[in-house]
Amino acid sequence: MSRLIVVSNRVAKSDGTSKGSEGGLAVGVMAAMEKDGGIWFGWSGKVDNKGEAPKRETRGNIEYITVNLKQSEYNQYYKGYANSVLWPLFHQRPELMQYSDADLSGYLQANRKFADELLNVIQPGDTIWIHDYHLIPLGKMLRDAGIRNAIGFFLHTPFPSLDLLRTVPGYQKILKALLHYDLVGFQTIADHMGFCMGVSQGLGGEILKNDRLRLGDRHCTARVYPISVETSALAGVAQAGENTQEYKRLYSSLNDRKLIIGVDRLDYSKGLVQRFQAYDRLLGHYEEFIRQVVYLQISPTSRGDVQAYGNLAKRIDREAGHIIGTYADFDWMPLRYLNRGFRRRTVLAMYRLANVGLVTPLKDGMNLVAKEYVAAQNPENPGVLVLSEMAGAADELDAAVIVNPYDVGAITGGLAKALNMPLDERIDRWRKMMDVLEQHDIHSWQSQFLEDLNFVTAPKLATAVN
Ligand code: G6P
Repeated sequence: MSRLIVVSNRVAKSDGTSKGSEGGLAVGVMAAMEKDGGIWFGWSGKVDNKGEAPKRETRGNIEYITVNLKQSEYNQYYKGYANSVLWPLFHQRPELMQYSDADLSGYLQANRKFADELLNVIQPGDTIWIHDYHLIPLGKMLRDAGIRNAIGFFLHTPFPSLDLLRTVPGYQKILKALLHYDLVGFQTIADHMGFCMGVSQGLGGEILKNDRLRLGDRHCTARVYPISVETSALAGVAQAGENTQEYKRLYSSLNDRKLIIGVDRLDYSKGLVQRFQAYDRLLGHYEEFIRQVVYLQISPTSRGDVQAYGNLAKRIDREAGHIIGTYADFDWMPLRYLNRGFRRRTVLAMYRLANVGLVTPLKDGMNLVAKEYVAAQNPENPGVLVLSEMAGAADELDAAVIVNPYDVGAITGGLAKALNMPLDERIDRWRKMMDVLEQHDIHSWQSQFLEDLNFVTAPKLATAVN
């Protein structure tokens, strides 16, 4: 029987206790997998040096197989090359990269460990779908070990231009490794172009018809598959969340004030400094909003032991302290800044309550918060999405109030516009965005990718059988 094996570093919590700090990949893949099931292989989230065998656990129609990381693997692979080289590079922050040869070799070693464990799991006919920047070399390692199955790769982050990619030593290996997949998926046209240009200009490869690329005897197909959300379900989940104590407490604490909400991992790609400065300016320049709005920023700590994240946390603390010290009153708190997450239905209910969803990353692969915010709204009284033009989601959700996330004044203007927007314009913009999300939801994202993977590998697999 043909099975789907999804592989990613981060695996959604299998016991339903998620507090929403896992980020877009876990949320998106979970929603996609829940429907047809499969095997989900990845890191357990635990670090230990004992070298225990992988843990297997089945929940619903998903079998989770997870491995622990040794301390050195965690340091060099996760904290090191993945999150101190590839993440800043792919998010246009090369000045934050901390490259070392040792981290690169730890990254390759951890990928090899994933490959070795997967060899015990993969059966002929399985479809293998690998996700994100942590596991770029994994496809080639599986091929080298003799795996002939269809192998696809999806990158959840942006992919850089060749100019930027060149800033990392050995960048050619990243491009070459991706060419070992049958199908490589990107979030946006710009990411796809970055890869194609990298292959043609950086490696001297050829761009062929039907999104095919060739380098020597290697062929691969690369296309755009913008990830999405479970559109039809989210409004219902949000409504169910209105029964939680947390939601009720938030609602009554507002006292009819307008609510602005931001939900982001505490990450420098999310534009939180500029966002806080824009809110500061809103309160400084528009007296009408004093005592009339509350900005709730939910930012669970993420990768806190990577230096750049620690520095960011301190910086945001200062900005938050400044806003509160300047504008708060003994009976009005303009900003509520929380380093913790909430259960999913509670957050969705909060989205539904919020007059403004503020999503202003400096660079983001897609940003599913933006899509979830839209899908959670009440059609008769929807809130307004203020969205960064640097998020992949802006390509599709152009009916949002689009802002440049580096332009603090533009974010302030966007916020004022959103807070004052008349109902008919809110409905009109929301409807346009919902049309997009209804046409392209998480299930069509998954089926499109897997159908294409099946299609591009069919001739090859037929030859292998013959
Ligand atoms: C982004 C990445 C994911 C990652 C998530 C959370 O969405 O694309 O691969 O899982 O952030 O980050 P973490 O380091 O906690 O897995």
